[in-house]
Amino acid sequence: MITSKLPNVGITIFTQMSQLAAQTGALNLSQGFPDFDAPRALCDAVGRHISNGHNQYSPMTGLPVLRQQVAAKIARSYGVQVDVDTEVTVTPGATEAIFCAIQAVIHSGDEVIVFDPAYDSYEPSVELAGGRCVHVQLGLNDFSIDFDKLAQALSPRTRMIILNSPHNPSGALISRAELDQLAALIRDRDIYVISDEVYEHLVYDGVPHVSVLAHEELYQRAFVVSSFGKTYHVTGWKTGYVVAPPALTAELRKVHQYVNFCGVTPLQYALADFMAEHPEHVEELPGFYQAKRDLFCDLLAPSRFSFTRVSGTYFQLVDYSQIRPDLNDVEMALWMTREHGVASIPISVFYQTPPEGQRLIRLCFAKREETLREAAEKLCVI
Ligand SMILES: Cc1ncc(COP(=O)(O)O)c(C=O)c1O
Repeated sequence: MITSKLPNVGITIFTQMSQLAAQTGALNLSQGFPDFDAPRALCDAVGRHISNGHNQYSPMTGLPVLRQQVAAKIARSYGVQVDVDTEVTVTPGATEAIFCAIQAVIHSGDEVIVFDPAYDSYEPSVELAGGRCVHVQLGLNDFSIDFDKLAQALSPRTRMIILNSPHNPSGALISRAELDQLAALIRDRDIYVISDEVYEHLVYDGVPHVSVLAHEELYQRAFVVSSFGKTYHVTGWKTGYVVAPPALTAELRKVHQYVNFCGVTPLQYALADFMAEHPEHVEELPGFYQAKRDLFCDLLAPSRFSFTRVSGTYFQLVDYSQIRPDLNDVEMALWMTREHGVASIPISVFYQTPPEGQRLIRLCFAKREETLREAAEKLCVI
């Protein structure tokens, strides 16, 4: 008999829905990944670096040239200087960065506050560290932080709060005022912050992303995590980074060096080249994805789904209460995939206790125009 360390964990809904989409031939708007190619220059650079012999271990902290590009991008985007050697670490995916940050500072019995709906990797990572997640629900309609609920959830055992902005699955953004409020709330407490900002460059309607990197007070206790996968359309490369003050970075690296030691070398070289040669990529990304969001939402306008255009991420939540209020969201997602050929993600899976009567599913619009048109056509006849 195996005594599981994660008895409540099965295969994730993302795997399940992607498998069902493949089996049924449905359009897969469930898992978050583009169905279009990454920039040619970026892909070509990988081949070049492999041919040129960049095939051995990279430094544990990440290639210096890539860390320099990350620091330069942070300076351009947020106007802050981070130290390339002591504050930036390249990791195999944002997921590994989050896992290592949690293992680095969470001890047995510690509590970690997560905001529901929450990305699914946080809780198992906390449990493996011997900690316990305390779930605080975001606002039902706008997915903003309820500071009264947050204050009530704090205890002497609270050791970490995990933020995610732009927020998966809702697309909501954290404001500077909210970060200030959070900073004031935890000022005299021994609490770390993970700020999961993997969608930092996917923000729309001219609203800038508010990064914890630019919040002097919160940054002192924060691990700020991002993902090259989301920014450069290469989710399968599983390459990300984490920025944290030197003392926190040192602790994180102690874990990272025994979880994976380093990221994939030729991918890091390719990303460094591309970032140096195409700094405009990041600036053009909001416009690129906003056009997809708007196309998809315009096409969905005649449907019976109701929705508000998202402010960030490449996910659009839609409410189906006018279509099949009798189905819960998991049933709805299965029914839509099997009967109508479009796979989605039910958002109840992001909750410890899903709100009663919520009828929301998540659709990924990181897709080619043809895919979005075909999907919308199917969704408009449901
Ligand atoms: C909120 C959030 N955090 C982290 C990740 C993981 O990023 P990566 O693929 O770089 O590990 C994802 C990916 O979907 C995500 O949505």
